[in-house]
Amino acid sequence: MPSRRRLIVANWKMNTRHQSAIELAGTIAEWAGKQGQLPYDMVLCPPAQLLFTVASAVKGSPVKMGAQDCHWASHGPFTGDISAPQLADAGCQYVILGHSERRHGHGEKSELVARKLEAAQKAGLVPILCVGETAEQKEQGRAEDAVREYLTQSLPANYDPRHLVVSYEPVWAIGTGRQPAIEEIAHTNQMIRSILGQHGAETRILFGGSVAPSNAGAILASTEIDGVLIGSAGLSPEGYIGIATKANL
Ligand code: PGA
Repeated sequence: MPSRRRLIVANWKMNTRHQSAIELAGTIAEWAGKQGQLPYDMVLCPPAQLLFTVASAVKGSPVKMGAQDCHWASHGPFTGDISAPQLADAGCQYVILGHSERRHGHGEKSELVARKLEAAQKAGLVPILCVGETAEQKEQGRAEDAVREYLTQSLPANYDPRHLVVSYEPVWAIGTGRQPAIEEIAHTNQMIRSILGQHGAETRILFGGSVAPSNAGAILASTEIDGVLIGSAGLSPEGYIGIATKANL
């Protein structure tokens, strides 16, 4: 068994409603509960208004819950935002930060992501920090530099690498069916780990982008890839479970 437990995260994004969330989370939780000791961790990240729904659907099962974003402050006059302590209060153990749909869709800069990361760790949440080059950066041969920059600038000075997950997510691979070669993912994940330094030995480094049951086996066979962050394939129990079982190495 690898020293870093594999991690299978589903990011539901702005999908599902009350009933479909109960069915999706409930089916996955029931399946997980029947598997005995699983050699990997399972995390579902529903939209914020369904956190309590999903928390009760996975209660008593090995399935954990995460959120998709948080604010950097603990409370205050921030209309429409949710703080890390509020997410912890709702039953979250993880929070996705710096996803490309926030960086590029909402103009979030790495400096802001770093403040959120600090707040998340302070609240006892494990941040899942996303970094990845855009198609343009890749075409210009700047993919590695872009990943290095997103990573170093999104990490606050005093972060705890033991309670951190990083996910390498090339923007051009998200929702497109395209992916880098496994060796390229492994190479980038190695670079991420070397940037984290000696304290990063325990940090789990995932891959995200068009992960599906058909390609998850090859991805998870790499010792450099500690798990996956799943978008659309995680919206069905068959998709999520079909991927998770590939982590049963
Ligand atoms: P996808 O999304 O699996 O639908 O490509 C991945 C992600 O956004 O992390």
